[in-house]
Amino acid sequence: TGSARDFLPARLSLTALRAAADGCHGCPLYRNATQTVFGAGPTSARLILVGEQPGNDEDIAGAPFVGPAGRVLDQALEQAGIARDDAYVTNVVKHFKWERRGNRRLHKKPSAREVGACLPWLEKEIELIRPQVLVCLGATAAQALLGRSFKVTQQRGVLLPDERVPHVLATVHPSSILRQRTSADRRTEMARFTADLEVVADALN
Ligand code: URA
Ligand code: SF4
Repeated sequence: TGSARDFLPARLSLTALRAAADGCHGCPLYRNATQTVFGAGPTSARLILVGEQPGNDEDIAGAPFVGPAGRVLDQALEQAGIARDDAYVTNVVKHFKWERRGNRRLHKKPSAREVGACLPWLEKEIELIRPQVLVCLGATAAQALLGRSFKVTQQRGVLLPDERVPHVLATVHPSSILRQRTSADRRTEMARFTADLEVVADALN
């Protein structure tokens, strides 16, 4: 079976990586998606934010975190005093995985095999950007980068040492805030998410 490794460019730069990822057939997910959604942001970013995979809006726009989850992320970053434009934003998996529900495309969780197949792109993004802080948004990112037994619920909001970057921090995925049933719960979870990002802001200063 293939992986993104078969599609890596000979000479590594973010531009070359992005162009190569456009043609990636490293797993079957490219077949039902509109396009590859590669990371976005400056090469000089001191912060990388890693989500799970593009959603419906990202699949159409070709850019990460531009839909509802992206708006939650933008709001939390602003509250924490972090400029999104200074961050590099990306996902573990670069193609939208979905199943049809009526006329809607419903997000489907990527399999461990798909995560493993796509991981070479993220590893190279991290190598090229070499940020000060890497943030895992949700369990898929945290487990892909920190190990399958990592528990976001138990270890969120804590700066962890890492061999790739000076600090890693895991927190929830912004869409988990949108899934809260009451506005009170949404407020509480948004405050916790923002507090985790304030830890990140301190590590950047
Ligand atoms: N959710 C993600 O994990 N990534 C996106 O880019 C959008 C929604
Ligand atoms: Fe390649 Fe990743 Fe898309 Fe699979 S999901 S085809 S590995 S870019």
